[in-house]
Amino acid sequence: MSTDPTHPIGVFDSGIGGLSVLQALQKELPLERFVYLADNAHAPYGEKSETFIRQRTHAIAEYLLAQHHIKALVVACNTATAAAIHELRTQHPQLPLVGVEPALKPAVALSQTGQIGVMATRGTVASDKFARLLASVQSEAHFEVQACNGLALAIEQSTLPDEAVAAQAQIMHLLQTYTQAMGSFGCAPGDIDTLVLGCTHYVFVQQHLRQLLGPDVQLVSTGEPVARQTHRLLAAAQLLNTQAPHGAAQPMRLMTTGDLQGLQAAAQRWLGLPPEVCWAIPALLSNPAP
Ligand code: DGL
Repeated sequence: MSTDPTHPIGVFDSGIGGLSVLQALQKELPLERFVYLADNAHAPYGEKSETFIRQRTHAIAEYLLAQHHIKALVVACNTATAAAIHELRTQHPQLPLVGVEPALKPAVALSQTGQIGVMATRGTVASDKFARLLASVQSEAHFEVQACNGLALAIEQSTLPDEAVAAQAQIMHLLQTYTQAMGSFGCAPGDIDTLVLGCTHYVFVQQHLRQLLGPDVQLVSTGEPVARQTHRLLAAAQLLNTQAPHGAAQPMRLMTTGDLQGLQAAAQRWLGLPPEVCWAIPALLSNPAP
């Protein structure tokens, strides 16, 4: 890993979901450079095996370290964090490393009714890491946990011009199905008043959820706490950049192993970034089928 404070911070996700974390990172650390990798060729991760996700995480970390000389890594994906962060920490003990996990503890602090909904991928919900997290707070509130198969994929497809209309309809259908399965939402006793968005993709359908659940339900995501934790780790390692990027050093470089247009559209829509900061790269290491 690089110990040069002017080097970039690596951020990755299975696709565009981690852009919600990148947004918070950029706000928290405006002097830093970021390289973002969307592993679209292998998205979604949520319905693949842990072994496959570990292989992808390993390949991506190696690529970002070797080719982009990153000084820190943010795993902006709950599913990859649950499957692989432990192994990554062992493989790269010196690297400042931050993962994301569903914000169950903050939700306990926010909920008045003590009824909390959790939406996440099947991989996250099935992981041992999530089971331990849930066990640590289960005595403090009631949790309705919903695995949301297909939702991250529909959000990915909503950025592709040819598929956007069908994907929007699919997003609404899935949100309706999954929220209904969790129970009643609102602020009356017995209602779910707090909903944890346990997948970084879901942040981009917050408006749809508002429409379905009304204004009283609190939606909890993790971008900001992750950005603050990254700030703390960099400061502790004396790796904070103190000068604005200049010359050839681009403050932001986004890469995808899949469809470039989809990433460009998402970067423009959600971060206001121009298409030139986005690049297509090879799919990195080939993996056996999941
Ligand atoms: N955005 C990811 C997460 O936070 C993964 C979604 C997926 O690829 O299934 O879990």
